[in-house]
Amino acid sequence: MEIKKVGVLGCGLMGSGIAQTAATAGYETIVREVSDDLLAKGFGGIEKSLAKFAEKGTLKESSDQIRGRLHGTTKFEDLSDCDIIIEAIVENLDTKRETYLRLDDLCKPETIFASNTSSLSITQMMSVVSAPRQQRFLGMHFFNPVPIMKLVEVIRTILTDAAVYEDAVAFATGLGKTPVRTSDRTGFIVNRLLVPYMLDAIRALEEGVASIVDIDNAMKLGCGYPMGPLTLGDFVGLDTTYYISEIMFNEFREKRFSSPPLLKRMVMAGLYGRKSGRGFYDYTDPKNPVPMNLV
Ligand code: 3HC
Repeated sequence: MEIKKVGVLGCGLMGSGIAQTAATAGYETIVREVSDDLLAKGFGGIEKSLAKFAEKGTLKESSDQIRGRLHGTTKFEDLSDCDIIIEAIVENLDTKRETYLRLDDLCKPETIFASNTSSLSITQMMSVVSAPRQQRFLGMHFFNPVPIMKLVEVIRTILTDAAVYEDAVAFATGLGKTPVRTSDRTGFIVNRLLVPYMLDAIRALEEGVASIVDIDNAMKLGCGYPMGPLTLGDFVGLDTTYYISEIMFNEFREKRFSSPPLLKRMVMAGLYGRKSGRGFYDYTDPKNPVPMNLV
């Protein structure tokens, strides 16, 4: 099946990045948010990101041409003729299931449903839709910042139709990304490996192995990672990291996925990382983050 029209649910950090990527790759794209204010916020981020690419001269077209393919809406009905819908709404299973149930009635029979969840079960979401749609249901997990990061994990359930899965893999390639194939096991590939690493870095800090800056520098300069693990935690969001670790621990019951007490306390105290202004670092001056005194 040829994918021409892309629907995106949610215009937050991930949804706006996915919508921008789809429009830049030449797809007619419509993104749905719950309010005009949230849409405007998401589109503001898209404008900024497109301006960065335009400044570098890496866009094949003008930002205006790309923006011309990108539409916003607050109505589910406007997504009914999309060939694929990528859902990037709040990581709440009930909200996602309600949304899929509603879309299942509205969308044409061919529409593929793809969730960008990082840790919830695709199978549990899929089970709420009709039997034919269950075969057209899978995961497409993008990485932050979506317009820059090249990877998409394409996730099949035991019911995903093989041809639909291949369409999604081809679509990820069409977006200019590199797809990797994986199945519906919590955390897929990246978070299964990344989350224990980030949690271990927090445990090392808690145990007094080294300071925040030294832990980050060790992995950045010793292993060539673009960011140290604590900076990455602040970038991903410590609330998100905590939430993912809880889901993974519940699934596997393995210590490596359990949240260190420090992470839990930081989240309880509202230290979510960059988005709240403080996490392992204080971002009062975003260009010069200052390590916090946490242990
Ligand atoms: N749009 C356009 N350009 C962007 C951008 C965006 N959204 N974000 C960054 N850039 C550009 C910058 O303008 C800059 O361009 P320049 O080189 O021409 O100046 C370039 O990217 C590099 O940015 P910075 O100089 O600000 O900083 P870095 O060199 O550190 O790069 C980074 C930023 C690309 C975010 C890099 O640090 C990185 O790759 N970090 C790791 C990110 C990562 O691991 N992401 C995955 C998180 S896990 C996840 O998402 C899964 C979820 O389930 C938890």
